[in-house]
Amino acid sequence: NNMLVWQRTAFHFQPTKNWMNDPNGPLFYKGWYHFFYQYNPKGAVWDDLVWGHAVSKDMINWLHLPLAMVADKWYDINGVWTGSATILKDGSIVMLYTGITKEMYQVQNVAYPADPSDPLLINWVKSSANPVLVPPAGIDMQDFRDPTTAWSTPNGNWRFTIGSKINKTGISLVYETKDFVNFTLLDQWLHQVPDTGMWECMDLYPVSLTDMNGLDTSVTGNALAIKHVLKASLQDVKVDYYALGSYDIEKNVWTPDDPKLDVGSELRYDYGKFYASKTFYDQNKQRRLLWSWTGESDSEDADIMKGWASLQAIPRVVLFDNKTKTNLLQWPVEEVESLRSNKKEFNNLKLAAGSVLPLDVAKTAQLDIIADFEVDKGALEGVMEADVGYNCPTSNGASGRNALGPFGLLVLANDGRSEQTAVYFYISKGKDGNLKTFICTDLSRSSKATDVSKEIYGGIVPVLDNEKLSVRILVDHSIVEAFAQGGRTCITSRVYPTEAIGGAARVFLFNNATGTGVTATSVKIWEMEPAMMKSYPGL
Ligand code: FRU
Repeated sequence: NNMLVWQRTAFHFQPTKNWMNDPNGPLFYKGWYHFFYQYNPKGAVWDDLVWGHAVSKDMINWLHLPLAMVADKWYDINGVWTGSATILKDGSIVMLYTGITKEMYQVQNVAYPADPSDPLLINWVKSSANPVLVPPAGIDMQDFRDPTTAWSTPNGNWRFTIGSKINKTGISLVYETKDFVNFTLLDQWLHQVPDTGMWECMDLYPVSLTDMNGLDTSVTGNALAIKHVLKASLQDVKVDYYALGSYDIEKNVWTPDDPKLDVGSELRYDYGKFYASKTFYDQNKQRRLLWSWTGESDSEDADIMKGWASLQAIPRVVLFDNKTKTNLLQWPVEEVESLRSNKKEFNNLKLAAGSVLPLDVAKTAQLDIIADFEVDKGALEGVMEADVGYNCPTSNGASGRNALGPFGLLVLANDGRSEQTAVYFYISKGKDGNLKTFICTDLSRSSKATDVSKEIYGGIVPVLDNEKLSVRILVDHSIVEAFAQGGRTCITSRVYPTEAIGGAARVFLFNNATGTGVTATSVKIWEMEPAMMKSYPGL
């Protein structure tokens, strides 16, 4: 089926075929970025998981390598599940991962590069001490998985956390080790939140409050200079929630800055299709990078027909937002910009209330767009509406008109716009005069296919006084990633157009507000060249 061919991406990471899910053990070693991932070598559905492996100089162009680890030991015979890399003080690598035993227990295992002098790290050895951890007393044998990168303690030991649950309380257990052979479970949990269910794929890392560099996972200390981010992937709702707080290494507890903004309540990495993410510290460019699984939202039958399922989102640099001080910023790695070509720029395009404006750009499904908007000043001051409790998923999408929104872009649109993916801002000004700005992606018209999810994603985005509204959008055939206000709020969507594909995909601006004109003060659009994807000889 030719239509399905168009869904493969040109610059996102995906294996040549079959199923992929979580990112595993990302790291930088001897000049190469390594990426491992949950992979089913036998088909396009979640099953028989092992570790796929690829390397890159820039996380955009990839060389696919042989499987790093397969299910060949009693302690991982039913699955080589998610894990993380730790780089020790001497530069050597320890991989911690979850194995599914022959009795279906979740246990933790250790693996090492077989040949540390090989920059491609092709071969891996599993530790003779495996399994190094089994579920402790009180923890269900199937609620014990996804060890994080370890951080060092003042006495030279290493600690890492593993997500779990007790009844409906999500918890994070912490283990300490000197040698990755013997481990002690600490009495003190790192953190717990009632009613959040199983915590998968935990992450704990420091962010600097002042500079733009990332921090090594082991950095602790001065509370005036850093915060610690705690992230859990909530199995029940399939959302990656994070919170900002502080980590007390003496007591081994993480505490949220604001109990109302604890893990599982408010802050998400992404409001769309984005799960089981994992950060790592890139010592090559002193930045913290975030990888995430972006699953399909079509049917399993379609995936089987395509012969593949899932993408990884473009890796993002993660920083503390030192303007709002309430959230992280996430931004696509600069390396993706190497694919930009044929830039078009538009300035001061006026969008009257209720208008749609086609943009004179190449028709293509591979784009990088940066658009800035300004709402007419008078309207912003004049209009007052009842605070209707706007909420992207339930508030009528791109066609639900109100005084100050929606306005934004239509991507992957066909000529008649019977197919379109809308990425838009919506401002609500309550009777109290307070402004709230939302960023949403509306998939209700993204495809004529009937077996795909057509949700409306999105949430609130902080906007400071005198800031323009700004959104960056990466478009790559079947994925649309939106980053509002420099990455304060992000939305990743999977879309399956049937007509707005390849050379038929257009871009429009629109303003569906009833009470204001909007100016697109600047719109920059680049076509994106395809990335290079190669396979190791013999694959
Ligand atoms: C998250 C997850 C992990 C597990 C892995 C198995 O998507 O369920 O908890 O280790 O996927 O593939």
